[in-house]
Amino acid sequence: MAATSKTATLSLDDKSVEFPVYSGSVGPDVIDIRKLYGATGAFTYDPGFTSTAACESTITYIDGDEGVLLHRGYPIGQLAEKSHYLEVCYLLLYGELPSAAELEDFEFRVTNHTMLHEQMMNFFRGFRRDAHPMAIMTGVVGAMSAFYHDSTDISDPWQREVASIRLIAKMPTIAAWAYKYSIGQPFVYPRNDLDYASNFLRMCFAVPTEDYEVNPILSRAMDRIFTLHADHEQNASTSTVRLASSSGANPFACIAAGIACLWGPAHGGANQACLEMLKEIGTPDRIPEYIARAKDKDDPFRLMGFGHRVYKNHDPRATVMKQSADEVLELLGVENNPILQVAKELEAAALADPYFAEKKLFPNVDFYSGIILEAMGFPTSMFTPIFALSRTVGWISQWKEMLVDPAQKIGRPRQLYTGATIRDYVDVESR
Ligand code: ACO
Repeated sequence: MAATSKTATLSLDDKSVEFPVYSGSVGPDVIDIRKLYGATGAFTYDPGFTSTAACESTITYIDGDEGVLLHRGYPIGQLAEKSHYLEVCYLLLYGELPSAAELEDFEFRVTNHTMLHEQMMNFFRGFRRDAHPMAIMTGVVGAMSAFYHDSTDISDPWQREVASIRLIAKMPTIAAWAYKYSIGQPFVYPRNDLDYASNFLRMCFAVPTEDYEVNPILSRAMDRIFTLHADHEQNASTSTVRLASSSGANPFACIAAGIACLWGPAHGGANQACLEMLKEIGTPDRIPEYIARAKDKDDPFRLMGFGHRVYKNHDPRATVMKQSADEVLELLGVENNPILQVAKELEAAALADPYFAEKKLFPNVDFYSGIILEAMGFPTSMFTPIFALSRTVGWISQWKEMLVDPAQKIGRPRQLYTGATIRDYVDVESR
């Protein structure tokens, strides 16, 4: 962050206060208002943090107006096409693309942490069979702090590193086991001769009586879904991880908090909600009815998979996801899938409608991801767990960055209080 010669002046009552302005390497300047309260006695009011930079970061950059997403400077389209998930994990965690030797070492370290503590199986078995896999993941990841005491001391860089590797390595096993448990099948142990995506697919779909032959096109599509969701700057779940960690909480507790936040339908739950919506629409002739509902102010219905807090032109991840959907469905011989047809026609109808153009609403990453995941054989309840698995590296990278940031403080927003002013307690008989 570089100080600029610019200042911002705020006048309030009879006071005029100047605030420093800083520039990043790219993107909007920020006004440093840390001294605002001391100087004026006033707070800022910014629900949803639409104009607030809560931290300095070097990991991910988004230009929502131009539809740009960069990880450590590399465009997401190039990473999705030329790289793979574990290489992107390395990039996010350590700041640079790895050399061949560094990548080999990183993959070795991740691969050797894929197993779960055997006793964690009992923990899974404590859940009801019909528990949502996200509920299981939130619980199991939080419980990792009880199983891996030796990597919970956040002041020790080595323990932070071990916790990071453990989380990236074990998350596919946890997600796959949450799924297996919910369908009443035995847990499948990880196999370290498989790549990250293939291993996950096998843990989800193999059974003791029959192994699962991993199709390389499907594992590439899976890997691409992981890559496209790896990080996304200061979104709700990442901010949750940062806020939880600002108190000094251990990494497993912080990531569990991120998973809980991701679950909501306005965030990671949107891919499940989107596929359910596409199925509800069912046939292209019903699209106008749903477009009309989305535009109706008196109807709470929104087009799921449409709109984004930051992207106001296009979501670059949606472009790759759409291509992937075409490839996967063709491979599986279901290119005439009726849901894909509804999705394509709904996208075209919405993009041609002035309501969506005026409000800058475009398909987001979740619009097509559900179609691919369903074609691969995943039930809708697994969509958000797969997102959580993919985003774990982003959460961890942001968490690590925050812990070494000298400006970091416990997160403590202020409020505009509009409740009752002081009044005397009244005994129950007199109320
Ligand atoms: N369908 C219809 N109208 C919409 C939609 C939509 N999907 N999204 C936003 N709008 C309208 C709102 O009604 C609002 O209209 P108004 O100004 O007349 O009141 C306007 O567009 C702005 O909407 P906000 O909710 O203020 O925009 P915000 O930036 O806060 O919300 C969000 C972004 C939550 C993603 C929203 O677009 C939405 O709910 N989309 C559907 C859910 C979804 O797909 N979420 C996934 C996000 S991507 C991710 O998490 C990976």
